[in-house]
Amino acid sequence: MAHPFDALTAEHMRAGGSWKWSTPGESHGRGLIGAFVAEMDYPVAPAVADAVRWSADASAFGYLPDGWVDDMAVACSAFWGERFGWAPDPAWVRPVPDVLTAFTATVRHFTRPGSAILLPTPAYMPFLTVPGMLDRELLQVPMGRASGRPVLDLEAIDRGFADGAGLLVLTSPHNPTGRVFDADELAAVAEVVERHGARVFSDEIHAPLTFGDARHRPYATISDAAAGHTVTATSASKAWNLPGLKCGQVILSNAADAEHWTATGYLAEHGTATPGVLATTAAYRDGRAWLDEVLAYLDGNRALLAAADLPGIAVTVPDGTYLAWLDARGLGLDEPPSAFFTREAGVVMTDGAACGDAGRGGMRLNLAMSRPVLTDALARLRSAIRGM
Ligand SMILES: Cc1ncc(COP(=O)(O)O)c(C=O)c1O
Repeated sequence: MAHPFDALTAEHMRAGGSWKWSTPGESHGRGLIGAFVAEMDYPVAPAVADAVRWSADASAFGYLPDGWVDDMAVACSAFWGERFGWAPDPAWVRPVPDVLTAFTATVRHFTRPGSAILLPTPAYMPFLTVPGMLDRELLQVPMGRASGRPVLDLEAIDRGFADGAGLLVLTSPHNPTGRVFDADELAAVAEVVERHGARVFSDEIHAPLTFGDARHRPYATISDAAAGHTVTATSASKAWNLPGLKCGQVILSNAADAEHWTATGYLAEHGTATPGVLATTAAYRDGRAWLDEVLAYLDGNRALLAAADLPGIAVTVPDGTYLAWLDARGLGLDEPPSAFFTREAGVVMTDGAACGDAGRGGMRLNLAMSRPVLTDALARLRSAIRGM
């Protein structure tokens, strides 16, 4: 049976004017399909739209009152408790405009001054550039592969800490490989971090987006040690598609960090948008059925990708996130694969090189489009490969 999302055509998306669909140009006389930036093509949850409308009707565009922060923290904690088995103390759930602001504040206030930052790669692109903007050295730690799936290289992480790094950036579920890490993998990370007296910034923005048997496990719940060395960041922005509403959450997991955040977090919190807080509360509290419907739809898109015939490309179907990793090294291209496929297929993906050295030759494909558009995108990729 047709799903309402199936009716979202490429023309409709282009007319909407989102960043994802506004790359200029065409390929072989066809418009480009936006499949790069991590946002979904689907209309937002009714509860979210109602909250934003209510904000406008009530002129709720002033500075953020404590009561609305508290409501958001309670809703976030309840959602996390229900979905991930950890309901953090709402007093330890703090508002920030976005995860990158949480990252910046964590580096500034929760790491040894001047210490380097360890980043498993391929990685979410800004994590490669923001450390330098904060005058921090970045050490890329290429991920390995085991049993056919991308894994963290613990020995390299251990060496990085031994060389003086103070912070590991953990992205869980992982963008861009779609891995949902197992509890034992996370426990092994916690052991290494703790041995070096280091810190983890755990970016769990994709936490609600898991499929099949994969379940998100909050890193801070792995052990007391992990709770003691972690700053967790999350947001409703990926799962409910709200990045422009500028509301994320820092979740503290020990009393000392909560106290330190109270002393240092003001500037990071200050940019949080009031309508974004109201929309986020609505998403966590009243947007669960919508989320489940989106997850089911995305799962169908995963199946479409899994069945796609893309010779020369090693496809990693994501267990979490709506981002798929396509390793195109088998094609032997002499240009970045995303440039080739933008030109020849008209499908605009994120080039793997932007995700770090380990990402070279790969591409990140955003699956969160309507099924007919994804069908077209995959057919275009296939015919571009056949035409080589
Ligand atoms: C892993 C990850 N972290 C952070 C972000 C950015 O989040 P924010 O807009 O809250 O800074 C994204 C966006 O795609 C992401 O995928």
